[in-house]
Amino acid sequence: MPRRIFVTSALPYANGAIHLGHLVEYIQTDIWVRFQKMQGHEVHYCCADDTHGTPVMLRAEQDGVTPENLIARMHEEHKRDFAGFHVAFDNYHTTHSPENRELCYEIYRRLQQAGYIEQRAIEQYYDPVKKLFLPDRFIKGECPKCRAKDQYGDACEACGSTYAPTDLVNPYSAISGAVPVKKQSDHYFFKLSRCAEFLKRWTRSPGTLQQEAANKLDEWFKAGLNDWDISRDAPYFGFEIPDAPGKYFYVWLDAPIGYLASFKNLCARNGASFEAYTEEVRARDEGTEMIHFIGKDILYFHALFWPAMLEQARLRKPTYIYAHGFLTVNGEKMSKSRGTFITAGSYLKQRLNPEWLRYYYAAKLGPTMEDIDLSLEDFVARVNSDLVGKYVNIASRASTFLLKHFDGKLPAAATGSANREAPAVTATGVEDEVRDAYNERDYGRAVRAIMAYADKVNQYFDANRPWDLAKRTDDHARLHRVCGEAIFAFYRMTILLKPVLPALAARAEEFLGTPGLQWHDLARRPGRIGQYQHLMTRMDAKQVQALVEANKESLQPVPQPHSQQRHAEHQEHAVDTAAAASINIDDFNKVDLRVARIVNAEHVEGADKLLKLTLDLGGETRTMFAGIKSAYDPEKLKGRLAVVVANLAPRKMKFGVSEGMVLAASGEGPGLYLLAPDSGAQPGMRVK
Ligand code: 2FM
Ligand code: ZN
Repeated sequence: MPRRIFVTSALPYANGAIHLGHLVEYIQTDIWVRFQKMQGHEVHYCCADDTHGTPVMLRAEQDGVTPENLIARMHEEHKRDFAGFHVAFDNYHTTHSPENRELCYEIYRRLQQAGYIEQRAIEQYYDPVKKLFLPDRFIKGECPKCRAKDQYGDACEACGSTYAPTDLVNPYSAISGAVPVKKQSDHYFFKLSRCAEFLKRWTRSPGTLQQEAANKLDEWFKAGLNDWDISRDAPYFGFEIPDAPGKYFYVWLDAPIGYLASFKNLCARNGASFEAYTEEVRARDEGTEMIHFIGKDILYFHALFWPAMLEQARLRKPTYIYAHGFLTVNGEKMSKSRGTFITAGSYLKQRLNPEWLRYYYAAKLGPTMEDIDLSLEDFVARVNSDLVGKYVNIASRASTFLLKHFDGKLPAAATGSANREAPAVTATGVEDEVRDAYNERDYGRAVRAIMAYADKVNQYFDANRPWDLAKRTDDHARLHRVCGEAIFAFYRMTILLKPVLPALAARAEEFLGTPGLQWHDLARRPGRIGQYQHLMTRMDAKQVQALVEANKESLQPVPQPHSQQRHAEHQEHAVDTAAAASINIDDFNKVDLRVARIVNAEHVEGADKLLKLTLDLGGETRTMFAGIKSAYDPEKLKGRLAVVVANLAPRKMKFGVSEGMVLAASGEGPGLYLLAPDSGAQPGMRVK
């Protein structure tokens, strides 16, 4: 009986680009889904953008667009990135959709009816300037324990302690800088505290969670479950709560419902039955499955809030939740200043092959929540040695003889003693091992088994010295057999690797004349090969260096905290810069803009975007680094006037201290234009 599975990956936030950390999960899920489809199972792989919440609202404001505009743009960008890495969702939707709104209302109504929604007033920090309640990550101040400055409202990055935002000393709003005030407002709560018994039972049902995840949940049960605040006050970008004007569903309420919304949207097009996968009784009767792939940081939401909500709304619970670890690069957290915070877009733009990364991740991924490391040196070595040196090499070597001497025709399966001669090539244990490993998400094991197989095939090929056989006309039958067996092994490896390398598999299928290979095709043999086209190029370490350079943010010496790891309870990231729709004249006057003369301009060794400028501000000389190398020849800059921000705090950068900022204009496309005053202006003059 084919399995019927609805699979999801976590929904990425609509206020940021997809990066290599995200891709661990999408590639992990995509491999699993492709594998299950190759087995002949019915799989619906759904995802969406996670569009609601304060960060999206502020980011849109900062960009001067509506949230709808922002999320539409990000949607296109995300879809492009996923397609670029061959992540093949059956549907990529958005949480800002009619399906999601309806499902949120329906689930909320069921929860209300069951008596699981409660309303009460709470006191929170409020930004009197921005006129909004501040999420924890938007309140900063001194750590109450160690007094480190500029810490977030939930945890101190200096000493690691956690606390409530109201514990911060000298708190200020990270958005406006204003001192927040405490203010009361009515909130809606989901009564999670009443779900403990159900959750304990559900958590312990075998197979639902990984052991480490179940242990984590036990810790949370011991600490006790609090009711969950599911509402936020206006202004908020999200769905307004029915019969509660000015109150909105918290983004984490509508996000997982977004899984269902995406699936519902798909069902309307592909004819699958939504209810068979979602309504409690039908899902049980029909044996459908719902599987979530997530990062370990959002376990709290998926293994507590989500099943509790589903249970009280009489909906089916997840069959499995598969959590993975974080990505480190070269053994460290991804960092913008080191250039290891690599976006999917930049990887594709630098023309690195996405399947190199898919393969490397697969080789590293196991079924646990352990972190995985992308060691850039190992990345190059491994891809070259395994994919190019072992797998592709078999096809390229064997095809030469087959095309030259046998017109590409492959021999029938070897029998008798000839068959025994090639045991490595027909080894059957491999496919079962690989199948089980994929199924259990132990891709590292699958890849090791395939590469061990490739080693044996290469040894068999070498031991038979086909280049000698080719010279002796009396042994051409053996030459045919040896090369044929090698191609047969290559064909089987192509099937085994296809979930990981779908594009490469498509090219190999063309070469083998066997389009659309499925798992059961392992039992067949190709009849004839076509012309051999190069299947995969070697990776050059220089390409990886260029990628890192392209991702270096020299102008941002301080890495952004919490860019990948999220605190489970407080996901809302602070935005980098204050978002202000309008400012008054006093705000403007704080910026000291001056005319300056560029007295010297030079290249900076090792920096591919920066020029080092020496500026005369009317008697005072300053050094500033400007990211204008792509647009200006330093020689031509000498002597010209520019406009600078003179009172910007000095910034320590990799190449030295920058004592201000040179103003330039740029738009969506390429091109960068320095600002210059009309003739007559003198260095040091104030711009206002
Ligand atoms: O942590 C995150 O990136 C969230 N946007 C994941 C949401 S997953 C699901 F619940 F919607
Ligand atoms: Zn501290």
